Amino acid sequence: MEVQEMKQAFADAYGKQATAVYFSPGRVNLIGEHTDYNGGSVFPCALSFGTYLLLAPNGTQLMRFKSLNMPEVVEVPLDKLTEPLPGKSWVNYPMGCMAWYVRQGHTFDQGLDILIWGNVPAGAGLSSSAALEVVAAFAANDYLGLKYNHTDFAKIGQLAEHEFAGVNCGIMDQFASSWGKKDHAIHLNCDTLEFEHVPVKLEGIKVVIANTHSPHHLDSGAYNDRVAQCRLALDQLRKVRPELKNLAELTEAEFKQIEGAITDPVAHKRARHVVGEVQRTADAVKALKAGDIATFGQLMNASHVSLRDDYEVTGLQLDTMAAEAWKVPGVLGSRMTGGGFGGCTVSLVKDEVIEQFKQQVGENYERITGIKPEFYVAEISDGARRLE
Ligand code: GLA
Repeated sequence: MEVQEMKQAFADAYGKQATAVYFSPGRVNLIGEHTDYNGGSVFPCALSFGTYLLLAPNGTQLMRFKSLNMPEVVEVPLDKLTEPLPGKSWVNYPMGCMAWYVRQGHTFDQGLDILIWGNVPAGAGLSSSAALEVVAAFAANDYLGLKYNHTDFAKIGQLAEHEFAGVNCGIMDQFASSWGKKDHAIHLNCDTLEFEHVPVKLEGIKVVIANTHSPHHLDSGAYNDRVAQCRLALDQLRKVRPELKNLAELTEAEFKQIEGAITDPVAHKRARHVVGEVQRTADAVKALKAGDIATFGQLMNASHVSLRDDYEVTGLQLDTMAAEAWKVPGVLGSRMTGGGFGGCTVSLVKDEVIEQFKQQVGENYERITGIKPEFYVAEISDGARRLE
């Protein structure tokens, strides 16, 4: 849908023109999975699809939320903005971000009419919710005439996810949505929030996303379980290394020396993944900077194996998609991306085999899982911004 059509839809819904249009993208993570809430680094990039938000002040004491992906208009009184709506309402994501401003003491002088439209494939694990949070945080800052920055928008979005959606996520998705840069990935240290935009210059190679169409259920509790298991591993390691702040601080050699302190076998596997993934991410960024895409691809494959065996967040669909990709000559690397339990894989594929990749992986995946997948060639794009 073009912005012009969204503006028409806004006028149809609210009987007036929108005064501003904003956009924030979804993301794909190239490597560095389940490291963010362990103080590790990640390497995501923003995509060309994302969430649009149009607004206009309405002269009432109500925030009105309408999504073109949903039938109803949801009205929230301004003095109730800080109270999450019951159930799993999508409105909690943008509202949770606006609530942050209210809690900081900023005031909406009147309500806003808000229209949302998103084209991140639903349930694909490409961060449609982060895109919605960050676009709302960005728009509220702009409407209120404040000076918060892109890092703040990411933090505001993450907090909304914790408090209004009940997912104890790290900051990767919101950060990527906020700080995305065309043709660059973001090498982010999730402990310090220092980051670097690294050019993704892949001569003759594309980033291909394969949607398993097996929805990921980030709020199913399995994600929060992983966060808790890492916490347990950290607590046990602190018995021998009291000053340890995050799992990600440990090198693989250091981990080997003290891993015996983790008595819970599940927590032990989770920690082993995190420590290995942090090293792989550092090595992958180094390889990319050196133009060594073959090494980058091998590290992606190793990342998938670790997420499959130690972190246990893959499953038949993601494992089949990755394994079928590994069989195609001209695929440099392939792995699950995002939280897992369904969603998408990300692969580096040579231009000349992209059609073969889609066909061969698609057919084999469908034969094995009974699900028809979908493929997108990623366009790495800019982060949150005002369009009009
Ligand atoms: C989800 C979370 C992120 C991150 C990834 C796994 O996308 O929202 O914070 O933990 O899973 O890397």
